[in-house]
Amino acid sequence: MARITKEAAKQRIDFLKKELERQNYNYYVLNQPVITDFEFDLLMGELQGLEKMYPEFATEDSPTRHVGSDLAGAAGSEFVQVPHRYPMLSLGNTYAKDELLDFDNRIRKAVSAPYSFSCELKFDGTAICLTYRGGRLLRALTRGDGQKGDDVTRNVIHIASIPREIHGENIPDEFEIRGEIYMPYAAFDRLNAERTEAELEPFANPRNAASGSLKLQNPAEMRTRGLDCVLYHVLGENLPFKTHIEALEAARSWGLPISAYSQRADSIEEAIAYIDAWDTRRKTLPFATDGIVIKVNELDLQRQLGFTAKSPRWATAWKFKPEQALTPLLSVDYQVGRTGAVTPVANLEPVQLSGTVVKRASLHNKDQMDLLDIHIGDYVYVEKGGEIIPKITGVELSKRPADAQRPAFPSCCPDCGTPLVRDEDEARHYCPNRESCPVQIKGRFIHFAGRKAMDILAGDATVEQLYNKGYIHTLPDLYTLSRAQLIDLDGWQEKSADNFLSSLEASRNVPFERVLYALGIRHVGEQTAKTLARHFGSIDALAAATREDLVQIEDIGDTVADSILAYFASEAGQETVRRLREAGLQMAVNAEANQPLSDTLSGKTLVISGNFSISREAMKSLIEAHGGKNAGSLSGKTAWLLAGEKAGPEKLRKAEKLGIPVIDESQFYTLIGKE
Ligand code: IVH
Repeated sequence: MARITKEAAKQRIDFLKKELERQNYNYYVLNQPVITDFEFDLLMGELQGLEKMYPEFATEDSPTRHVGSDLAGAAGSEFVQVPHRYPMLSLGNTYAKDELLDFDNRIRKAVSAPYSFSCELKFDGTAICLTYRGGRLLRALTRGDGQKGDDVTRNVIHIASIPREIHGENIPDEFEIRGEIYMPYAAFDRLNAERTEAELEPFANPRNAASGSLKLQNPAEMRTRGLDCVLYHVLGENLPFKTHIEALEAARSWGLPISAYSQRADSIEEAIAYIDAWDTRRKTLPFATDGIVIKVNELDLQRQLGFTAKSPRWATAWKFKPEQALTPLLSVDYQVGRTGAVTPVANLEPVQLSGTVVKRASLHNKDQMDLLDIHIGDYVYVEKGGEIIPKITGVELSKRPADAQRPAFPSCCPDCGTPLVRDEDEARHYCPNRESCPVQIKGRFIHFAGRKAMDILAGDATVEQLYNKGYIHTLPDLYTLSRAQLIDLDGWQEKSADNFLSSLEASRNVPFERVLYALGIRHVGEQTAKTLARHFGSIDALAAATREDLVQIEDIGDTVADSILAYFASEAGQETVRRLREAGLQMAVNAEANQPLSDTLSGKTLVISGNFSISREAMKSLIEAHGGKNAGSLSGKTAWLLAGEKAGPEKLRKAEKLGIPVIDESQFYTLIGKE
């Protein structure tokens, strides 16, 4: 680092301290990071360098000396804060290979005995500390500020891979085990799709989604989030283990979720080979990783090496650089969604990034465009995080053409010309012309017909045709379409018309909760629709609900309540409901449909593993419909392990050990008397 004057250093240190604290808050408390991890690490590296140069400015409260805090603080946490028995620290990290050699040299100098490493994936989630006492899960704490964490036990018990009870040999009476709670990509994509539908801001990446979900106040909602867990650090008094790997193997044998991807290395070179191998292999994993952790394996040497204020000297993290591409920004489109929200989308000169060609990237909203200070013709950095849609993370100012212009955010709807409005507390612009903006109307039909809604055979093209012909304007119009009108459409034949009409007919049996979702009431996504349907039982009861009735339901906030009230108060809403009821749609919960199919499995707990001919969710519902219970991990109480294709070898082994019968899909069907 170039030497700078003392005065300039002091100023820069003050700035960096404030900036890093602000970014820690965005990341850990708001779960809304504004800069990338790489940028954060650069700022942190700069501050460390300056504090080393001028130790007189290295104060106790510097972000270089404490971990970012996830305690909700001023936001008002409803979790109890509990002190950590051993502080929960962070890890030193590096992006440079020679720093790994330095790490190795430091260890060699400090210890006299030979040592080995444990090489592990760095799971990109949120840290958790579990305490087991007498073989039972006693408590789960978040990292918090490193000294005390939020007690999230009531949420953690809903994560299937975390056992409430463990079994096996030599289980210490009390110990802690730390690890990461993370959200696999599949669950992340599903959650964000739901949030987008419900017009909630999608999570930026799986890590934020995981920590946001873990802090939910409603455990039932949290259960639907599909979180998973991996544990990587056993702690306690007088534990009988000599090495870290031995401790983890023991924990695995007790039924705790331990990574299957770790590897022992006998030298730093072997550890580097592990890093190089995973740099590519990690892209095939179903969850996000942001690096590799290298730990000294021998526990007595770990004790000798000890800790700095913030991290252990016996471990370090190699961070993967996010893959980036630099490409010119050609233009910006403004897309209007079914709810009227306007999203700016960048059109890029096509460029290769992580194996795919990127042509478009989301710019989110006007604030984001201003923040990036984006100009047409700029070379922009594109990155793929855990997200599917790439995002623009920065502009290469040195390549800006002299005459480059800022794109003008439209003041009117690009589709219908109505002046846009901006909700006070939201960053998005909306077209307020709900009744007659064509994109919004067509969008409502596409949503209504969707698979999770009414499941009608009407995709974008059909809706476009029907709308252009003037056949459909409000949702109930679909149920007035005649066979003759359909056959008359370009490219339609009798068969396609009949298929369409049968799907329309079938939609009359779609359960009420999906009808409610299909209506497209703003902020009422799939999950909220289910909650409302269960709570009120019918559309009439919901339409009669007051604001107080609504907000007392868990997870229904002011915004959602206002939106529901506005819908049922509007003439358009009332008219839609009246005509859809006339068309024969389900406007109340059908009590019969929720009756159990049998009580064959009553009192039995099943664990499922692997893939089946139906989805795992459907399989779980089937178990419940026959009176059974699902559990995430095997225990003495498990009646059967239902093993599908590619069932987890760990689970199979454990079932054998515990003497639990293993059945396959067809045996299960025989059991419940299903053909
Ligand atoms: S060991 C005292 N091992 O990365 C050592 N951490 O950036 C504690 N992480 O706070 C951490 N995978 O939340 C360790 N295999 C792994 C990890 C891991 C992910 C997280 C953890 C830690 C953070 C540091």
